[in-house]
Amino acid sequence: MRQLAVVVLAAGEGTRMKSSLPKVLHDIAGLPLIGHVLATAHSLSAQHVIAVLRYEKEKISEYVSKHFPSTVIAIQDEIPGTGRAVESALAMLPASFDGDVLVLSGDVPLIDVSSIAELIERHHSSKSIGTLVSCGMDNPFGYGRIVRSRGELVGIVEQKDASEEERTISEVNAGVYVFDFGHLKAALAKVTTQNASNEKYLTDVVSLMIDKGLVQAHQISDHWLVAGVNDRAQLSEVARELNSRIVRAWQLAGVSIDEPATTWIDVTVQIGQDAKILPSTRLSGITRIGVGAVIGPDSSLTDCEVGDLAVVTRAVAENVKIASKTKVGPFSYLRPGTELGEGGKIGAFVETKNAKIGAGAKVPHLSYVGDAEIGEGSNIGAGTIFANYDGENKHQTKIGSHVRTGSGNVFVAPITIGDGAYTAAGSTIRKDVEPGALARNPMPQENLADWVLEKRPGSDSAKAAKRTE
Ligand code: UD1
Ligand code: MG
Repeated sequence: MRQLAVVVLAAGEGTRMKSSLPKVLHDIAGLPLIGHVLATAHSLSAQHVIAVLRYEKEKISEYVSKHFPSTVIAIQDEIPGTGRAVESALAMLPASFDGDVLVLSGDVPLIDVSSIAELIERHHSSKSIGTLVSCGMDNPFGYGRIVRSRGELVGIVEQKDASEEERTISEVNAGVYVFDFGHLKAALAKVTTQNASNEKYLTDVVSLMIDKGLVQAHQISDHWLVAGVNDRAQLSEVARELNSRIVRAWQLAGVSIDEPATTWIDVTVQIGQDAKILPSTRLSGITRIGVGAVIGPDSSLTDCEVGDLAVVTRAVAENVKIASKTKVGPFSYLRPGTELGEGGKIGAFVETKNAKIGAGAKVPHLSYVGDAEIGEGSNIGAGTIFANYDGENKHQTKIGSHVRTGSGNVFVAPITIGDGAYTAAGSTIRKDVEPGALARNPMPQENLADWVLEKRPGSDSAKAAKRTE
């Protein structure tokens, strides 16, 4: 086996994105563009993976070293162009290196391991010194065009440098190449910046290498695999395509997805068999959905764990654990630190945060539960507020197991309600309640006789009251 070094190009300015975020850090399916490319690069059992950075190098290298720590970072100097970028990467290789250099572009995210394996296989079996991926495109605008003479590859011409006639060529350069290290290095040394962009193009090595050995284009038919992202329109097109592939893969793995076009699933999500994902639902980050769970419609789950057979309807949840057989929604907002035990329920217009709600416990209607622990089997009455904030600090509410709290309660934290206790409707609970006690503090009710007749004489209410008198 020859040695392999993978170079990922990510030093460009990405001006067409018009963004303060570097292009390769823009996200599709939950990973930045460069994350997709690095994940592929690191699955190739290469001896070296090198990312070339320059613009916003701090931000990008922070991401790269956090998520792909074995990546070597090369910094491109002020000479612009993809050719210079590759030269900067080669300079990081040990003097003893001799083998193949695979070049991937940080903005071509969907290229996959099997296409690269085919590329390398073809490169070796044909004893080439350079093999690049090409593809026929309906709209080749912006890409480098593959120039052939009598069917043989003779060079690549960039959009800006192409003649009218060359612009009609539909076979494009994917920005994915494998080269013999020695020949690549020699050719790069000869590349100049004499072109419309005043850049040192990597693509120029092709024509420079042709009289040194075989250089060829490996055509692939799936144009999405080579789609480059240069602006936000392309970003959304590639994101949509990747999403539709992810959705389809889950469908084929036994997940029901009613409406793929409105269902968005990150590559980092796991879904159990027979789960159902209903329209307009987004599953993001490290989210795990259990077997037979039903999620949606109109739900967004980020970094959530959802147990088997749970039902989550019209909910927004982040960093939340929902055990099996639970019910959430409709219209629930579950904020970080919410944990719902098996068989529990969080109902309509309920907001929770940092709240551990025990097995079988229920917060069914119109409530805010913040910084709380609710024991198993307890029921929180409709319209209850856990008043956790005194204006300066947050405090904890502890509700025991099998507690029944009345409607319209306010729990002024810090406070503890003992196991099996009750609270009366309309109470503001400011003192701890002992297990088994009933707490109530309603104002004694007063009925002022004939108040309406005296204060609202002649009104419809007064007339109605008079009729019954
Ligand atoms: C490039 C190719 C083009 C190909 C297309 C495929 C060249 C000259 N052109 O064009 O033939 O069809 O990709 O998507 O290579 N980069 C650097 N340093 C630089 C400039 C760019 O590292 O100085 C990086 C960018 O960050 C990016 C990649 O190289 O990840 C490609 O650069 P980009 O400017 O997007 O090239 P394209 O115009 O797309
Ligand atoms: Mg590009």
